Amino acid sequence: MDLPPLPLDRAAGRPLAAQLADALRAATTGGALRAGDRLPSTRALAATLGVSRTVTAAAYDQLLAEGWAEGRRGSGTFVVGAPAASRAAVPAATAVAPERDGDLVDLSAGTPCLTVLDRAAWRRAWRAAADPAPDATPDPVGLPEFRSVVVEHLLRHRGLPADPAGVLATAGSTGAIGEVARTLPPGARVAVEEPGYQRAVVALRDAGLDVVGVPVDGAGLVVEAIPTGVAAVYCTPAHQYPLGSRLSARRRVALVERARAEGFLVLEDDYDGELRYDVAPMPLLAALGPDVVAHLGTASKLLTPTLGAGWLVAPPAVRAAVLAVRTRSGSRPAPAGQRVFAAFGAHGDLARHLRRLRRELAGRRAAVVAAVQAAGRTVQGDAAGAHVLVPLPDAATERAVVAAAAASGVVLDGLGRHHSASPVRAGIVLGYAGPGSAELEWALPLVAEALRTS
Ligand SMILES: Cc1ncc(COP(=O)(O)O)c(C=O)c1O
Repeated sequence: MDLPPLPLDRAAGRPLAAQLADALRAATTGGALRAGDRLPSTRALAATLGVSRTVTAAAYDQLLAEGWAEGRRGSGTFVVGAPAASRAAVPAATAVAPERDGDLVDLSAGTPCLTVLDRAAWRRAWRAAADPAPDATPDPVGLPEFRSVVVEHLLRHRGLPADPAGVLATAGSTGAIGEVARTLPPGARVAVEEPGYQRAVVALRDAGLDVVGVPVDGAGLVVEAIPTGVAAVYCTPAHQYPLGSRLSARRRVALVERARAEGFLVLEDDYDGELRYDVAPMPLLAALGPDVVAHLGTASKLLTPTLGAGWLVAPPAVRAAVLAVRTRSGSRPAPAGQRVFAAFGAHGDLARHLRRLRRELAGRRAAVVAAVQAAGRTVQGDAAGAHVLVPLPDAATERAVVAAAAASGVVLDGLGRHHSASPVRAGIVLGYAGPGSAELEWALPLVAEALRTS
């Protein structure tokens, strides 16, 4: 179970404990929390939300007194559901449902962590995917069972209530960016993060769009710096690629407000949003502005890009325009990967995998941070995703670190290549998901040495 976003507003007159109790009740009636879910300890929740333990304890006491939650001796506090007295007034739940390159260990970002994948569950999913009779006609929308599993996943792990009818299967986020790009008027201006995901830039340019870079900082995309007159804004709010910061709550609201006022579309690339360690979840842009946001998710970081399975949740007009692109071009997402993903998600294997993945990656992140700090450098980026940024003073140092690491057998990724224009920052984008844990353990002292001596 994933904690949904629990919005607290310090400026509101209502006490934080009452706001927290409201948010937990709303999450329960909305389906993001279910009967039997175990709530975090008051101490852990206080740390995650950045409030005092008195606040979380008072909120839990309130829910216990009202019957929304129950305490089980020695094992914690559990969601019960809406108490009988309030059930009639409660709306129904909305949910339906070392990479080795020769002898090198590759620590570039972007590779999934396959070492924690339960191979028995994976084989089960593939067997189940092979059961149905072959389809004669392609389905440009995506298989119903896939879209149901995606809806469940979005609600439980991303706090986004969606309807299966509002979800389109994709062949992955990068392809979907290209599809949405082709729905925009040729020559239209699209803002992207700089530095940012260069494959998105290529997909947008290939669709004949005019791409303009917007700066990013420790609070994500600088929304005030987006020029007026854009048709769309592409961003990675959960974990800015490659800097690793999360878009602040204030900027999320500002971006959605500007999109509404100026009539542009926001492309929310949530490529690794499920991976978060001890930091509070933020509301998705798609939850704040379902009318102006096209939300892109992918199985590529959760499982593997070889499934070629992703999803798009977007306003009806955007979905219709993407389907028109598919009809025109005869392209559609392949059903095989969707079947495997659906089977993997159907009986809890996906949720179990995600728990394992987070545990593994949180441990790896801690080891990476320790190695970098031991080398006298700092790490930038929130405790999320599968890479960190190690800022460096200039491009020459970046090149020297990459070269020193390569000489000792480790591939590192410089920040320079994540810019579309002249690099404005230097550093190393250090991915830790791809290699086996033994390879990572072997490589980290070498990375530390390269960082220390360059
Ligand atoms: C920012 C970003 N978006 C999306 C993706 C993956 O997209 P896809 O679903 O096409 O594999 C990646 C993969 O590296 C990425 O870094």
